[in-house]
Amino acid sequence: MAQIVAATCNEHKLNEYRDLLKDQKVEVVGLNAYKKCPEIEETGATFEENASIKALAANKYCDIPAFADDSGLEVEALGGAPGIQSARYADSDSARIARILNELGDNPNRQAKFVCVIAIAINGEVIETFRGEVSGVITKEPRGSNGFGYDPIFMPDGYDQTFGELDAEIKNKISHRARAFQKAIEFVEDEMSVLDDDFS
Ligand code: IMP
Repeated sequence: MAQIVAATCNEHKLNEYRDLLKDQKVEVVGLNAYKKCPEIEETGATFEENASIKALAANKYCDIPAFADDSGLEVEALGGAPGIQSARYADSDSARIARILNELGDNPNRQAKFVCVIAIAINGEVIETFRGEVSGVITKEPRGSNGFGYDPIFMPDGYDQTFGELDAEIKNKISHRARAFQKAIEFVEDEMSVLDDDFS
């Protein structure tokens, strides 16, 4: 089966990728399979730039087609923070959640969205990026222990449970990552003749 390297060592993300791509003829390999791969610095100013930087670095290092996602939480009342800084907003998931809840305080505007941008890189070039978003609200306190990151405080529109409470199966149907992947899969299927050589 053709392999594609995912530019991440995050096991939670890898599990979601494998689930989202389970019907595709492709085996997802994480960067942790490449023990000596240098850390990739996210120096971009947008999700698109960071996803592209990561996908390109993985493609060049591993010499097989690569993809990367750059993702994060944008909270309206915080001017879009933490945004591309989501992974670095504090030192641990619980500290990051506490910071958001603290900064929001009693603010009645709890609107937020998760954003995910996937970049695909083949033969030393980023061929395309795909953006997926899911809107929701920030709860008053963390709920549930499913998923990862900010999941326990994010309740997607149309649901009364957070991503921390919802089953992975539901999250993986409606999430920002699922939506970005849907677009990426459609693109790859449409352009398959171009990619066949690289994927064979
Ligand atoms: P990245 O590895 O730079 O893309 O970091 C994204 C960060 O955004 C993660 O470390 C999480 O804190 C947060 N994040 C992204 N996607 C999700 C998600 O699906 N659930 C919860 N937090 C997420």
